[in-house]
This record gives sequence, structure tokens and C-alpha cells, in this order.
Amino acid sequence: MAKVKIVGIKGMNDMLPEDAAIWEKFEDTARSIAASYGYRQIRTPILEATQLFTRGIGEVTDIVEKEMYSFTDSMNGEALTLRPENTSAVVRCAIEHNLTYNAPQRLWYFGPMFRHERPQRGRYRQFHQFGCEALGFNGPDVDIELLAMTSRLWKALGIEARLELNSLGALEERAAHREALIAYFEKHADILDEDAKRRLHTNPLRILDTKNPEMQEMVNAAPKLLDFLGEESLAFLAKLEAGVQALGINYSINPRLVRGLDYYNHTVFEWITDKLGSQGTICGGGRYDPLIEMLGGRPTPAVGFAIGAERVIELVRETAGDVVKADCDVYIAHQGGHTEMVARQIGEKLRDCGKRVIVHAGSTSFKSMMKRADQSLAQWCVICGEGEVNENCVSVKRLRDAAGNQQFAEQMKVEIDQVTELFGQ
Ligand code: HAM
Repeated sequence: MAKVKIVGIKGMNDMLPEDAAIWEKFEDTARSIAASYGYRQIRTPILEATQLFTRGIGEVTDIVEKEMYSFTDSMNGEALTLRPENTSAVVRCAIEHNLTYNAPQRLWYFGPMFRHERPQRGRYRQFHQFGCEALGFNGPDVDIELLAMTSRLWKALGIEARLELNSLGALEERAAHREALIAYFEKHADILDEDAKRRLHTNPLRILDTKNPEMQEMVNAAPKLLDFLGEESLAFLAKLEAGVQALGINYSINPRLVRGLDYYNHTVFEWITDKLGSQGTICGGGRYDPLIEMLGGRPTPAVGFAIGAERVIELVRETAGDVVKADCDVYIAHQGGHTEMVARQIGEKLRDCGKRVIVHAGSTSFKSMMKRADQSLAQWCVICGEGEVNENCVSVKRLRDAAGNQQFAEQMKVEIDQVTELFGQ
């Protein structure tokens, strides 16, 4: 049969076992911090109806216009999309299961998202987000809580990031600002690039987000949404700022921060680092009070964020190096036959005591077993040799201390019944 070489899809990465420890560190830390604020996990499918995202994220956004993996289900003709983000899906789920009927909800999720972007460092076609969504809270108290939570996560992971805040105000304020923006951009039509011209009447706010150097000066001088905010929106922003300041979190107001999804109002924010080149936003979020009603639910305020896991993991690696984790605490070597059974029995007992144990499999040459034991980074090696086992004993050798430093201690002979006592505490 002819051999075929099948490789992974561009922009979609494998997570290899040597990376597992750093991913687990990120996931465990994020999960436990979310739980410490009373957030509970929610899982939704990776596939959703395409309409959920076109309506939720907005027709004239980069994601919907050019980045979605959408297809028609050949069985029933349904239009489906691999989720490019999870806020819309969490809202769909909350409406469908009436989650906010009795009480507001604090929710978190972790999982893969899909966007057909041009792959580069920190930007992939399958990437992972850790996100939190607080449904049913008027804010800005919960907005502040989410910022405190993300700030705590960076500290726990040893990451430095700066917080940028902005307010997108209420619908009518954005409408007035939009009119002023269109008039301003029309006056400068000669400077607008093709993308900006296309968005002029559909989504002029997104023109503010342009990376085109030739448009920067003109865009910097464009009417600012902050100048269109009424009393209520300004008071909301002032409360948010006071809350963030009271927690000692540094931030700056970026009037040009508009975010790439259409569902936001009032609070928007991003956490940014300079260490990842052009893809430095490690977390983005904000308030999306209109979304639940837009997707068919009862009007319910909401706010949330999502963190790009790959970007954060790269940062953790850059600042703290690789996170090395031993495969097991105890490696058990044996000489096959009866000694293998004894090795297994000891292994089960040690697992009962909470130890992570590898019982050697494969060649029983002493050299290859000791090599495997060493590669596993175990602290201890238990050797079930024929002679010792016949005397109801095994040999125990300390390979590393708790910090992972190699030890060169002598082997000691221990009675089989005593082994669990040695490691059990
Ligand atoms: P977003 O800004 O589109 O917001 O994505 C959030 C984060 O996901 C980004 O800041 C970035 O770290 C990461 N990210 C986005 N695209 C990619 C990619 N192609 N490769 C790697 N990382 C990526 C949202 O998705 C909203 N749902 C956030 C939210 C939750 N707003 C309210 N609640």
C-alpha cells in the first residue's frame, strides 16, 4: 500500500506531553481563582448554529465576515459554525435552560475556539480561551470583580500586563457618536483605506481600531465616544474606576479601545503585554447588556472576559521557563514474573496513599529500568529484585529531593510491608 503523509492543519497545534505541565499550571490556577470568586463551570458544544454568531458577534465584524469555520450539515442542511468565541454560546445556553430565571449566574469555561486568521506568533486557527461570564448583574460591581480576578491570575502566574479601560456608553450615546464619526471620516475620505471605506456606513467604530500607519493621525483626532457619554454612563465609568483604584490595580483609559465584537456597551477592557509582539492582548472583555435580549432572552445585563491561553502560556514560559513536572513520585522496577506482581501490589498501595507511581513495563534489564526511572524525574525508585523479594523485601533508592535535585544516596533494604509507611505520610 502506498504510504501517505498526513500533517496537522495549518494554525492548529498539537499540545505535546512535555507542554502538559505548563498548560495544567495555567488551567489549574485559572480554575481555582474563578472558584475562589464563586464562579461555576459551564460547557457548551463546539458546534453551534451559524446564526448564533452572525447575530451575536455582528455581521460587520472581522470574525463573522472572514474568520468563521462555517459549513452546511450534509445530513440536514443546517448552517453550522465551529465556535469562534464562547460568549454567544454561553448566552444561548443560559436562555435555553432559563439559567438566570431565579438568580444571577457566575460562570467560567475553558476550551478550543476557531478563527480562520492568518497564523502567526500568538495567533492561531484553533486556540483556547479561559473565560468568565457574569449574567444578571447590573454592575459596575461585578465588572470590578472580573478585573480583580484577572489581576489576581496574572500575579499568580508571575505575568506583568497593563490594563486598558474604556466605556462604550449606552446605545443612544453610541448612535450620536456614530453620526459624528461618519461625518468626520467623510470629511477625510481621501485618507481612508479600502477596509475603512467599506466600514464607513456599516461599522465606523471599528475604523478607530485600524493598524494602518497612514490613518493614525486622522483617527487620533476623530470624535471620542467619551465626549458623547451622558451623566449615567459617566457615573458608571467613574464607579468602575474608583473600584479598580481601591483595589490598587493600575490602568489607563484608552478612548480608542472599541473591541472587535459588536455586543458591548459601557465597560470594555483589555489586558496587554509588550512581550508578545503584535499579538499582545492576553485578555479582552466587557459588558454586553444588549446581547441576551438580542438572542431572544429576557433583557438581562451581563459582563465577562476571555483569556487567550496560548498567549498566556507563552508568557509564563518566557518569564518562568518551562514548568517541569515529574511523571511520577515513585518508579518501581522489577525483574518480571513474581517480582512484577509484587511491584504491582506495592504500586496499588502507594496510589492508595496518594502517590503517583509508574510500575516499569518492558525490558527488565537493570540499566534500562534505571534509565527510565531517571527520565521520569521520580523522587524514589523501588527495586523489586528476585533475591530481595524472596526475603520479603525490596530496595529503595532516593533519586531526587522534593525540589528535583539529584541525590546520590545509598540504596536501603525495606520490608515490603514497610514500603507504604516510608512514603505514606
Ligand atoms: P476576543 O478579544 O475576541 O474576545 O478574544 C479574547 C482573547 O482570546 C484575546 O484577547 C486573545 O488573547 C485570544 N485570542 C483571540 N483570537 C485568537 C487567536 N486567533 N489565536 C490565539 N488567541 C486568540 C472574545 O472572544 C470575547 N468572547 C470575550 C468576552 C467574554 N467578552 C465578554 N465576555
